[in-house]
Amino acid sequence: MAEVRFPEGFLWGAATAAYQIEGAVFEDGRGESIWDRFAHTPGKTFQGHTGDVACDHYHRYREDVALMRDLGLRSYRFSIAWPRVMPRGGGRVNEPGLDFYEGLVDELLGAGILPMATLYHWDLPQALQDAGGWPARATAEAFVAYADVVSQALGDRVKYWITHNEPMVVSVLGYFEGRHAPGIKDPAAALAASHHLLLSHGWAVPIIRRNSPESEVGITLNLSPAVPASPSAADFRAYRHLDGFINRWFLDPLYGRHYPADIVAHHIAEGALPPEGMVCVQDGDLEAIAVLTDFLGINYYTRWVLRSEDIPESENAPRTIFADGEKTDFDWEVYPDGLYEILSRVHFEYQPPKLYVTENGASYGDAPGPDGRVHDQRRLDYLHEHFMAAYRAIQCGVPLGGYFVWTLLDNFEWAEGYSQRFGIVWVDFETQQRIPKDSALWYKDVIAQNSLTLAF
Ligand code: FCB
Repeated sequence: MAEVRFPEGFLWGAATAAYQIEGAVFEDGRGESIWDRFAHTPGKTFQGHTGDVACDHYHRYREDVALMRDLGLRSYRFSIAWPRVMPRGGGRVNEPGLDFYEGLVDELLGAGILPMATLYHWDLPQALQDAGGWPARATAEAFVAYADVVSQALGDRVKYWITHNEPMVVSVLGYFEGRHAPGIKDPAAALAASHHLLLSHGWAVPIIRRNSPESEVGITLNLSPAVPASPSAADFRAYRHLDGFINRWFLDPLYGRHYPADIVAHHIAEGALPPEGMVCVQDGDLEAIAVLTDFLGINYYTRWVLRSEDIPESENAPRTIFADGEKTDFDWEVYPDGLYEILSRVHFEYQPPKLYVTENGASYGDAPGPDGRVHDQRRLDYLHEHFMAAYRAIQCGVPLGGYFVWTLLDNFEWAEGYSQRFGIVWVDFETQQRIPKDSALWYKDVIAQNSLTLAF
């Protein structure tokens, strides 16, 4: 048996998002969000599931914080529902909405758990969508006002802030593919949305810093390492394109390098952008987006192996890489080395002062057995291997400050509804009973010892 130790003070935690767990969507003055509208539109989510009740966390947050304390979590990453705080996106502040988050933060601090707050985890107030949504510059301005209100209220107690969660998913799934709220399929709108998401981040950072001195402020991207399936030029092009589309499109402007020229050229050729390129970019925008942050949050789930669709398979070189690892119930390949790859790449190429894994986890449907326990050995193994990959990255000099497991509770998994269970705690959605799964009990030991045990 060997043991690997994590750095002193490593922030072990778990992550959640407001719409996925809170429920209580009609209570205490909360306004409608794009996810309420989307989930209530027939055909948009698995079997019409909605977040109306979800984990009922809004009413049970004290019990949930007690659960976190029992697991020994050092930090908890949650998101704030914009329509609870500002029901129409701008203007009037809804005090009961803010009270909820004050209560949650106080409960966490009382339990010795450091709160990490995400301002935007996809639940845009519907009123702002009706006025144009993220493709409109005014939404970026509204976000700054919202960030100001929240950081003034909580800035004395919350010391870790994330502006946005996964702007790639918001723009691509929400405005290009239409698989997420608001369900729009318009490439030009998606590109404008991506710019305004990043711009709103850049504008909000100094405001949050002013209201919450001594805090760490950053943004979270979902990054996936991509590799060509063979050494052919065609597969290399396919890989470069996907990497540009999902990774560099967001990393490059955040670290002062403008939008990647190859991807801009692609969008011009496809007609998604006019010949002049990103016309929504105004003077000063790129400087604002490249504001220095304290950390970059990375959400990692799987990798991409790219095979060209431009040439017939028979003309392509034989595959040398196969995405043939075991699959989770979400059909994502289990590929722990990808976490090491993406952490070291971001560290060496972009050099954020600090990194956090703000999400990593797996969907497995294991249910309580006759003994009343949930033996989710595959999730436990998944986490163990990914923690090891993070450890190797730390050994190579990556300044990784913490790791947030996705997710605390089984919850509303967006378009998949309740069909995918990512929690380390089982939730019975009929009774709202919670049962920590084997992975949670194992994680408790990892946190307590700040180390992993390796069996040879
Ligand atoms: C991420 C989201 C999170 C959850 C996981 C599975 O993209 O940030 O809310 O849905 O995927």
